[in-house]
This record gives sequence, C-alpha cells and structure tokens, in this order.
Amino acid sequence: MNLPTHTTIASAAGNWWRNAVIYQIYPRSFADADGDGIGDLPGILSRMEYLAALGVDALWLSPFYRSPQTDAGYDVSDYRDVDPLFGTLDDFDRLLQAAHARDLRIIVDLVPNHTSDEHAWFRAALASPPGSVERARYMFRDGRGADGSEPPNNWQSVFGGGAWSRAEGDRQWYLHLFDRKQPDLDWNNPEVRTEFESVLRFWLDRGVDGFRVDVAHGLIKAAGLPDWAGETSMVDGAPAQDASDGVNRGPMWDQDNVHAIYRDWRRILDSYPGDRMMVAEAWVRPQSRLARYVRPDEMNQAFNFDYLLARWNAPMLRTIIDASLAAAAEVGAPATWVTSNHDTVRITSRLGLSHPGIRPKGISAADEQPDEALGLRRARALAMLTLALPGSAYIYQGEELGLPEDTTMPATFRQDPAFRRTGGREIGRDGCRVPLPWVAGAPSLGFGPGAATWLPQPEGFAGYAVDRQEGAPDSTLELYHALLRLRREHGLGRGAVRWQASPDQVLVFDNGPVRVVVNLGTDDVDLPPGTPIASSLALPGEGRLPGNGAAWLSVP
Ligand code: GLC
Ligand code: MG
Repeated sequence: MNLPTHTTIASAAGNWWRNAVIYQIYPRSFADADGDGIGDLPGILSRMEYLAALGVDALWLSPFYRSPQTDAGYDVSDYRDVDPLFGTLDDFDRLLQAAHARDLRIIVDLVPNHTSDEHAWFRAALASPPGSVERARYMFRDGRGADGSEPPNNWQSVFGGGAWSRAEGDRQWYLHLFDRKQPDLDWNNPEVRTEFESVLRFWLDRGVDGFRVDVAHGLIKAAGLPDWAGETSMVDGAPAQDASDGVNRGPMWDQDNVHAIYRDWRRILDSYPGDRMMVAEAWVRPQSRLARYVRPDEMNQAFNFDYLLARWNAPMLRTIIDASLAAAAEVGAPATWVTSNHDTVRITSRLGLSHPGIRPKGISAADEQPDEALGLRRARALAMLTLALPGSAYIYQGEELGLPEDTTMPATFRQDPAFRRTGGREIGRDGCRVPLPWVAGAPSLGFGPGAATWLPQPEGFAGYAVDRQEGAPDSTLELYHALLRLRREHGLGRGAVRWQASPDQVLVFDNGPVRVVVNLGTDDVDLPPGTPIASSLALPGEGRLPGNGAAWLSVP
C-alpha cells in the first residue's frame, strides 16, 4: 500500500469543501435557453437567481464538452471546448463569473477513463498500424484464437455486452468498459498523463473550483488484463451491509497504481491560488478502500455510495453513517452524503417501493410502481437526515423539488446506451434525466421557450414545478430552503454526530445545537425534549412525530 507522502493534516477551518452543499446540474435537463429541447449553459445562467437563493455552496456541472452525445456527454471528443449544443466557451466564462459573483463555486466533470471514438486521438489510432504511438494511447490488443477473432479477454461492458470491439476492417481489438464509442485510454502511457494534466490546467486557468472525476477507480487495469468471471458493474444494487466481499472487485477496478495519478493532480490543484478540489466517483468497497482516494495528498472528497444505496432502515443507516465518518476521519477527509445522481433512480421513487431503497438501476413500467406520496414523505425525512450530517452533502437537480423518477417512459424515447446494449434488460437512466419543471402550465413546463424537451415530461411533473413550490410553506423546495439556511446558521457541516437513545427504527442525534429525529417506522413516536425548528411534515402536537417523518429540534 502506498502511504501518503506527508501525514500532517491541514487545519480544517479554511477548506470550503469540507462542509459544502454541492448541487449537481445535469446541463441537458436543467434549463434550455435556445429552445432546441436540450438544456444549455445560457439556460443555467438564466436560472442563477434560483440557484443562489437555494443556499448551496457550489454547482457541479455534468459534461458540456464537445461530444457526439452517445453517453450524454460522458463521451468527450474535445476536452477543451463546449459542445455547440450547450453553448460556447464564452458562455461558460459568463456562467462562472455569474456564479462567483454570488459566492457559488463551480465544479466541472472530468472524464479521464475514456474518450469518444470521435476524439482526434482515437481517429489517429485507427489510421495508424498496430504498435504505433497513436494506438499506444488506448488499449489495443490482438485477439485470441488462431485468427485473432476472439476478444483479448472475457470482460463485459458496464453497459452490457462485451468490453472489446474492432473497428470495421481492423485486426486489433480495443477495450471499452462502457459503450463501443467510449474507448478506454491507457493510463500507463505518460503521454496520456501529460495530456490530462494540461486539460486540468485549461479549466483551472479559466477559474473552476474543482473537478468531479468520472470513473476514478477505473483508470488503471490489472497488468496482463486477466479474465474476470464476475459482472462488470458500477452501481451495485446491494447495500453495504449485504454486499459480500469481492463485489465490484474485478481487475478493471480500484488498482493500487491509480493513486499516483491523483497525487500528481493534487499537486497541480494545490499550485493554483484559491482552494480547488476534486471529488472521486469511485464505486469502491469497503469504506476503508474508498478512503484511500481521499488521503491528504490525493482527492478531497469521494462520493459516499454506501449511503446512496442504503435501505430505509434505521440500524443500517446508522451503521453506514458511523462507518463513513470513521473512514473519512482516519485520513482527515470530510464524509460526503449523496442520495441521487444522474446514474441512479431518484430517491423519492426508490423510497416509494414496498422494499424501500431497492432498484437503483432503473424502474420500468413492468416493475412495481412506487407509491409517490409515500416516497416523497420519506425523501423529505431523509433530506432532514442528510443535511444534518457533518461533512459535505450533494443535491441532484430536482431533488429539492421532491421530483420522482419517470418510471413509465416508453422505450422509444430511451437514449441510455445501457438500455440499448442490454436489449432493454437494464431499463437505464433516462428516468432520472427528464427536463426539470419550472412553470406549471407553460410549454415544456418552462424548461425552455417552446414545447421541445429531449425526453418527454410525465404529466405529473407539473405539480412539482418551481413556480408552484416557491413561497408555498409546505412545499419541498421551501423545506430545502429552510434546512439549508439552518444548516449554515448552526454550522452543521462542521459539527459532529452524538447519537442519543432512541426506539427501534428511530434515529436521534445531536449535532451542535440541533437535535435530529428521524422516524423510519410507520407508527407515531414521542419526540425527545427540544423545541421543533423544522419538520418534514406537519407535527400533530402533543410532542409526537408521525411515521416516515423527521424533525429538527433545538437541544434544550
Ligand atoms: C460515470 C458517469 C456515467 C457515465 C459513465 C461513463 O459513471 O456518471 O453517467 O455513463 O461514468 O463515463
Ligand atoms: Mg438548448
């Protein structure tokens, strides 16, 4: 195991990211300024007041770079330009300025594991012979079998099907852990490292505050690319406590040598003024392995997917919270809390299932349909848990509206390569990527100036529109406003968890002056002593808290 080069932990006080609330914008689906039905950077700019009013600290933008959009922009053909779908570099600069003017930091997405097959490098590779320097940037290999017609190993793509393809007429195979239009780079090649350091500098020079690093656990593959009998998956449906050791541990994931890359990057970030950060998307278990990505000289944060995958179960949540806090503390990093993103079924819908929390990888019309009201009730209670925890919390756009997954989208609209590559066996991620509702009754629910939306908006979305919720005291948006304000006021992000005695299926802890009570059961329970300052539902009085409800009290 590689030990950090220095072991002293910098003082926590000044690092904004240690307790930041970070709002994920999925640009395609946030707001559309030019009316083509696809969200864009000017659309985000036009909603800057909304974002500033929300009370978050930073915005993470999913990819907006030049891309053929095979994987919604996670297939980048030019890392230093904005795709015309989303605007221009000038639009980006304007957005960054407007955000900074409102004390909002900007984190951009970095996709280093693979490029698009339309990237200049991959085109050059295909035009060059086996053994060329152009091919050495990717994972080209000769096939197995007498005539090389068998793939070099048995790996499967995360999106289904084989992980190797051959270009038309080409003798060699290339590796793609994702779609065949997303060839994996060879991170043992120094030229690849130099190129990405330059990409980092490009965006740091423009003033970004950090990077969300895509597939951070995948860049280095085990030497020799050994066969692997297991499934190649990222999102693992099993919660931490049920996961047997060995899940997601194939030779394509979490190799020790990957950490040297992040040490190099950290040195670059630290050489810039301000306090720049990186957050790892690493589907890695257990927490102690994940913590290696956030050692003092590596990344600053890693997404806590054990928390995202937790069930609606008080002891399980408590165990995961404690393990997350302990693992992060071990390396001096902040814990993070996330319940949804653009790759997983929206939390409101997962919590509305009869086994709440299952099915992170998609709910189809043929599956059990979530109970929308119950899911929302639980999601509001869960938000009161998440936003009360010390460390850094993530909100996926629409979560603050209580927006559900679209679980009934007809197959003809689906665009996720996982849906196509598995022949529909995996329903895919389109249901959590539906354009946001801003104005009930307007065309495209106010997403854009016209009626066009790149995915259809289900009928029920009007009821969640921003204009319906703004100023409405019981709305989910106003609950988020209140929680984010109280979290800031009471310094909850810098605090600590002190568990209090509680009945089964109830979590009670104090964080500074705030006492947090979450009732995951169905029956009313007695509230502990303290005056309510926020609640996820109307409190019936007499000191009772209904099932699937939560409250914040001031500690007496
Ligand atoms: C990450 C992204 C996901 C993408 C994949 C391949 O998991 O979050 O959306 O499909 O990487 O880049
Ligand atoms: Mg547009």
